[in-house]
Amino acid sequence: MKVSIGADHAGVSHKQFIIEAIEKQGIEVTNYGTDSEDSVDYPDFAHPVCEDVSSGKADFGILICGTANGMTMTANKHKDIRCGLCWETEIAALTKQHNNANVIALPARFISVEDGWNITKAYMDAEYEGGRHQRRVDKIPC
Ligand code: RB5
Repeated sequence: MKVSIGADHAGVSHKQFIIEAIEKQGIEVTNYGTDSEDSVDYPDFAHPVCEDVSSGKADFGILICGTANGMTMTANKHKDIRCGLCWETEIAALTKQHNNANVIALPARFISVEDGWNITKAYMDAEYEGGRHQRRVDKIPC
């Protein structure tokens, strides 16, 4: 299992906490930054993560910004990316189970660093259910 992660300046602490927690599970993480609180532009970190997921270099991606809206909007411009905005664990599980999300976006200004990991774990532990959901997922591209 390989994971790629990126954040803007709002999500640095959340990103670091998640990286350490994921690595403890023996999962390889590619960190695209940012790694300081100097102001940056979230698309610069969303695109490389999404490219890794699209190319198969990563099994899924994690994006973090203040609201998660900018990261979600950017990620979903990528043809093969389904990015769910996840602010709590049940939503995170459901975006895997129903939407087969391959990227999650976390709103750092609205969740604790611990909840950032709990939400990520809920997504990782969930399974895509397929069936009727595949019909809907197939209709997402326009
Ligand atoms: C940065 O201040 C903020 O705009 C960004 O983190 C994010 O919330 C954008 O959607």
